[in-house]
Amino acid sequence: MQLLPGFRDFYPEDCSLRNYTLSIWREVAARYGFLEYDGPALEPVELYKKKSGGELVGQLFDFVDKGERHVALRPEMTPTLARMVAARERDFKKPLKWFCAPTFFRYEKQQRGRLREFIQLNCDILGDASPAADAELLALVIDVLRGFGLGPQDFVVRLSDRDAWMQFALGKGVPQERVLEFLGLVDKLERTSEAESVRKLADFGIELGAVRAFIANPSLETTKLQGILADLAARGLSDFVQVDLTIVRGLAYYTGLVFEVFDRGGKERALAGGGRYDGLLELMSDGKVKMPALGFGMGDVVLANMLDEIPAAKAMRDAWLAKRRPAEIYVIIADDTRRTEALGLIQTLRNAGLRTDYSLASTKVGKQFQAAETLGAEFAVVVGAEWPSVKVKTLATREERLLPVEGLAAALRA
Ligand code: HAM
Repeated sequence: MQLLPGFRDFYPEDCSLRNYTLSIWREVAARYGFLEYDGPALEPVELYKKKSGGELVGQLFDFVDKGERHVALRPEMTPTLARMVAARERDFKKPLKWFCAPTFFRYEKQQRGRLREFIQLNCDILGDASPAADAELLALVIDVLRGFGLGPQDFVVRLSDRDAWMQFALGKGVPQERVLEFLGLVDKLERTSEAESVRKLADFGIELGAVRAFIANPSLETTKLQGILADLAARGLSDFVQVDLTIVRGLAYYTGLVFEVFDRGGKERALAGGGRYDGLLELMSDGKVKMPALGFGMGDVVLANMLDEIPAAKAMRDAWLAKRRPAEIYVIIADDTRRTEALGLIQTLRNAGLRTDYSLASTKVGKQFQAAETLGAEFAVVVGAEWPSVKVKTLATREERLLPVEGLAAALRA
């Protein structure tokens, strides 16, 4: 039986790598005062058809369930979050700073950096319309990546403003109902041939040259970007950001600030993306709840590719993994008549919180030492003729000591 395309098995070593990613995500989000939440993996398909829009609608894993409901596996978190917050808006102090890191599904063409099942960190701030919130969220996305040992030479946050593009489109006579379609063209400009872009823009009566000129001369005065950049400069984070109006984002709900994070080498797809969606909660609550919001999503796939290739980041990850070896202590039963005492000792060590392993089958001492080495244990504790003392061997240095069983856990910890 083959794995479905775009899906992954997680063997223990893959789980360790995923745990590394999750631990940094959670640690940095907590450092910024974000609270963790979650929602269902399955939602009514309408949630995404009406609220996500854009490319995502064509990438849904959707089906009709046994109760005749048309449902979809979640491709993103934002519509769910908007629904959750709108439903209990009065219960929360503003601004809300929430994060989650679950699994998502998109029926995308499998390619480097894009799978059909992936995990994604989502961080969102709701209930604050100020540029201070925009800057806070951008500082967070930067610090999350710095948490993995990446620096300004490795990645860049490309900032843009959808409002500026809306004004451009309306100013060029694009009818309101076709603005999203126009933004979709701009979003794909870098990935589309020049001839095709010229043809598609002609349908809106706009020349490619005019779009390029607008991108080349972003007038910051008309946007909130200046204030955001000043805030980031105060934090010493200017090297990580750059204004780039080619970014418009493929999802329908974005309103103001939008951004994407890329590797400096330009080899990978986007590492993260996000922006403001000030109208989504209102849309979700039929006009009852008006709440500005913004956030970003960061997937694990491109991130893992980058960590593999950047030596400083890889070394940091490997050091983290080495500290989480499966066993710190391996108990070697040298004299099988002492098995009962050995089991008692193993239990005592485990009760004391020490990661302790041993051979389930009685086997040669040499083989037990080999198993201890393979697991990367720090100490081998040899139960034999010396009982009620044991030989404790530090595996890295081969140094050996005789220690009493009484108080062994504390001695090993020290
Ligand atoms: P998105 O740009 O669709 O935004 O996805 C954000 C990130 O998720 C991407 O930059 C990428 O790292 C990862 N990602 C997306 N699709 C895939 C895939 N097929 N395989 C692997 N990784 C993937 C959103 O999802 C928005 N809901 C983010 C957001 C949160 N906006 C506001 N709050």
